[in-house]
Amino acid sequence: MHSGNGESHAKIILIGEHSVVYGQPAIALPLSKVKTKVHIKDSSNGPRILHSRYFDGELKNSPTSLSGIKHLINYILEAHSMMNSSFIMTITSDLPAERGMGSSAATAIAVVRALYTYFGWHLTHSKLLQLANIAEKDIHGNPSGLDAATSASSQPVWMIKNKELFTLPINLNACLLICDSGIRGRTGEAVSSVKKRLESDPEATQALINKLGELAFAARQQIANDDPSGLGKTFNIAQSQLAALGVSNKQLDDLIKTSLAFGALGSKLTGGGRGGCFISLVRNQKSAKEIARQLRKKGVTETWIQPLGNDPEEE
Ligand code: PMV
Repeated sequence: MHSGNGESHAKIILIGEHSVVYGQPAIALPLSKVKTKVHIKDSSNGPRILHSRYFDGELKNSPTSLSGIKHLINYILEAHSMMNSSFIMTITSDLPAERGMGSSAATAIAVVRALYTYFGWHLTHSKLLQLANIAEKDIHGNPSGLDAATSASSQPVWMIKNKELFTLPINLNACLLICDSGIRGRTGEAVSSVKKRLESDPEATQALINKLGELAFAARQQIANDDPSGLGKTFNIAQSQLAALGVSNKQLDDLIKTSLAFGALGSKLTGGGRGGCFISLVRNQKSAKEIARQLRKKGVTETWIQPLGNDPEEE
C-alpha cells in the first residue's frame, strides 16, 4: 500500500524569544529525542481522515486548535491540484502542546515532509520552512520563523528574521534542564500583548527588545568561549527583561527562583511564556537531576536533560 512518513522534533529557544519577532537575533536548539511523527496511507475515495491526540475524524471537521494544520494541508493540495485526493493521516507526538517547545511548528514540519514523501514531490529546505510558516501564521499573525527553522534542523541555529539563519555548534561544559511548569503557555496572547505594549509605550518596550538582542550576541560569545557561568548570568538578565515585557508569570518566576536556589547557573522562560516551559543552565547531569527532583516537589510536571557538550558524569 502507498504511504508517506514525516518526522520532526521539539525545539528550545535558548535566548531571543519575542525580540526575534522584532528583528533581534535568537539562538534555539533542537531537542531531537522529543519527536513528532506523521504517517499517511491511502484510503480509497473516502474523505480525508485525521487521527491525532486531539481529534479523530474527517479533516474538514477538525477543531480550531488544528486549523493551522488543516489550512496547511489544503494549501499544499491546492497548489498541486490534488484537492480530490483522499488519505488517512496519523499524527503522533511526544511533545506537550502549548508549552513553548514548538509543538505546532514540529507538527507542521512533519506534515509537510509526510505529504511530499507520500506524493513523491521534491522538497527543498527553504520550501519546507516557507510551508511550515503558513501553519504558524494561524497561531499568531507574525511568526519569526524560528520555531519552524529549529524543528527542521538537526543542529542549534542562530537566526535574525529574514536576514540570517545558520547552524551554531554548541559545545559547552554544561547541560540544559528543561522544565514543564504544567501550565498552558499562551504564545498568541503573549505575542499580541508585546505588540500592544510597543504601540502604547514604544520607548521603554523597544529598549527591552534591544537589550534582549544584546543578550543574544553576548550568549553567542559565551558559547564560543565555553563560559557556562557567563551564559547563566545572561539567562537571568534575559528573564528579568522578559518579565518586564510582561510575558512571564508568578508560577514561572517562583519556579525559576527555586531552580537558582538549588544551584542552577541561570534560568529563564523559553518560548512564548505566560506558562509553558523554562530552562536552567546547570553544571552537569548530576546537578540537573537533583534540581529536577526539587522542582518536581514545587509543581514541575515534566523535565528533560539536554547535555550541551562533554559531561564528565556521562563518561
Ligand atoms: O511558544 P512557542 O514555542 O511557539 O515559541 C514562540 C516564540 C516567539 O518568539 C514568542 C514567537 C516567534 O514567532 O518567534
